Amino acid sequence: EKNGYDHFMLKEIYEQPKAIRDTIKAKVCNGKILLDEINLSPKELRKIKKVFIVACGTSYHAALIGKYMLEKLCLVPVEVDIASEFRYRSPLLDKNSLVIAISQSGETADTLGAIAYAKNKESKIISICNVVGSSITRCSQGTIYTHAGPEIGVASTKAFTTQLAALYLFCLYLGSIKGLIDQKTCKRCLKALEKIPEDADTILKRASELDELANLFYKKSNFLYLGRGINYPIALEGALKLKEISYIHAEGYPAGEMKHGPIALIDSSLPVVILIPKNQLYEKIISNMEEVKSRGGIVIAIAIEGDKNIIEKADHVFYVPKVLNELTPILFTIPLQLLAYYIAVKRGCDVDKPRNLAKSVTVE
Ligand code: F6R
Repeated sequence: EKNGYDHFMLKEIYEQPKAIRDTIKAKVCNGKILLDEINLSPKELRKIKKVFIVACGTSYHAALIGKYMLEKLCLVPVEVDIASEFRYRSPLLDKNSLVIAISQSGETADTLGAIAYAKNKESKIISICNVVGSSITRCSQGTIYTHAGPEIGVASTKAFTTQLAALYLFCLYLGSIKGLIDQKTCKRCLKALEKIPEDADTILKRASELDELANLFYKKSNFLYLGRGINYPIALEGALKLKEISYIHAEGYPAGEMKHGPIALIDSSLPVVILIPKNQLYEKIISNMEEVKSRGGIVIAIAIEGDKNIIEKADHVFYVPKVLNELTPILFTIPLQLLAYYIAVKRGCDVDKPRNLAKSVTVE
């Protein structure tokens, strides 16, 4: 039941601190990551030459973030595919490849199809899934379960952030096994992950700021979302959330790609949501923001607490707590979920059951 919330989606957005905490708790014991559930021995894991991550929709956005994490922390090449595309190209898989299928429901036909293809190539297959015993878990050698609990709203929220937590745990696990992450670093990273639920709570307490922003923008017919690096997929996810529940046309773009076309869209009526972490790309994204401003665009910045510089440059700022770079996607996504939610409600949309959509897509 909705537990006093107006919609399942809102309830599930608010359940994220618990969902993330439960996912971590299930895999970490006395500061050690236990992932027996993947059914791959350290020896098998060390033999992996390449990783392919396949998924659809929001889970695909988690896959894109997984690539950044795995390449950075585990020094393994990663390809990411939308599941419906994967088996219709000729991905070069073999027995030294690891395929990671990500799915909330575990019943998505395209993702199952991708697994079947990989099986044929004798690759190792694991899944990241939220539903125990679902078809995808049964077709995988092992599964890293997310512990989000049932997700009823059609738009995926808590499943997504727990997928990101699961991917991060897997990276720390694999990186440690490969001797790339020492115990001390692993402990520090785990500590940062364990603080995420508290940081998510901090964001949720500021939800009214996003409700106010929604008041200003809910009548718009277009939105642009920009991010770079590990937060580029969050720009895609923010745009997907908005379009699927509010029916507003929205696009996510890598901010540096703006000048190669989409900048032509910018005028004084266009809201542009820009994700601004404090990392090595900070100066670059600030200059992308200035490109938007100088063409009259309305900038909504999602920035890191303490970044006062942004206040004079952006039209609106929403702050999230400071975290490790690899964990910024989890925090940045929450304000975008809330913004989409409040906009959709103000437009009178059926938030939990958007038109034309089904919670689990069991046809190709
Ligand atoms: C978007 C959304 C969909 C799903 C996609 C994959 O909010 O919910 O894009 O993410 O249909 O579903 P799963 O993860 O169940 O395979």
